[in-house]
Amino acid sequence: MAKGSSKIVLIGNGAVGSTFAYTVLLKGLANELVIIDVNQNKAEGDVLDLNHGLLLASPMKITAGCFADCANADIIVVTAGAAQKEGETRLALMNRNVKIFESIIRQVVQYNTDGILLIATNPVDILTQVALKLSEWPKQRVFGSGTLLDSSRFRYLVAEKFGVDPRSVHGMIIGEHGDSEVALWSSLYIAGVGVNQRQPGSPWHLTDEQKNEIYNETRMAAYKIIEKKGATYYAIALALARICEAILKDQKSILPVSSYLENYHGIDGVCLGVPSIVGRNGVEQVIPMALTIEEEQNLQQSATTLKKFLHEIGF
Ligand code: 2OP
Repeated sequence: MAKGSSKIVLIGNGAVGSTFAYTVLLKGLANELVIIDVNQNKAEGDVLDLNHGLLLASPMKITAGCFADCANADIIVVTAGAAQKEGETRLALMNRNVKIFESIIRQVVQYNTDGILLIATNPVDILTQVALKLSEWPKQRVFGSGTLLDSSRFRYLVAEKFGVDPRSVHGMIIGEHGDSEVALWSSLYIAGVGVNQRQPGSPWHLTDEQKNEIYNETRMAAYKIIEKKGATYYAIALALARICEAILKDQKSILPVSSYLENYHGIDGVCLGVPSIVGRNGVEQVIPMALTIEEEQNLQQSATTLKKFLHEIGF
């Protein structure tokens, strides 16, 4: 990776991709952003639109490009792929996106050997594993947005319940970014005290019913938004920008990104979102947690679910 450089290549300029591009501009995250999309006109139009705001944001170079522009990129963010259509199974979506990835990843590695691949396309854990295998890059440099967005939703919902800032709520969703994700109630902390340790009747206690409500709302959030407006993009774009910031500024932030797990709470050979140190070298360390037996079993179940899908596509 070139020292001091900050070049992001975005592959896929749909709703998530273009919102991410705008977020990069607003935050002044990189010196250079290249947008690649099969719809060249849309990419070029967005590049013009974004460049027209440069004066009002921070200076950076934004262009529409092709795969050769992946050369020297620090991060290649992949949001390309088919979005779930009404009535379509997850497996059908997965098969289509695996095909798209076969073409994309092959071209990326032709031009870049030492960047970081950050995957956002759904199903994100499966496609991260597909990208890892196809790229043959080290697992530290190929990872997905994982459950960072879910954790943000979770903390927002808990914060709403207690009327506090989500940044003052410490907790995480781990596992699959999807139906089998796991809420870690045992490590949900507010003001240094575990919510599980609060006595029933105390203002900081959550009943089982409230917990179920928060968990289900977190897990079903995307379905609800898609039903209302067809897609989700603002919060996922912010999650991707947060991960890029941790990488480019070598922040060593602990984020629940999805990477290839080996010997992790009894899980082997699958990509899942778990707390990980994210810095200039990518996923620098995956951190084991203090899980209850139930949480660990749920995480293992999440891994089993994903492995079944991976087996079906031969990965
Ligand atoms: C989300 O959770 C659909 O993965 C997308 O918003």
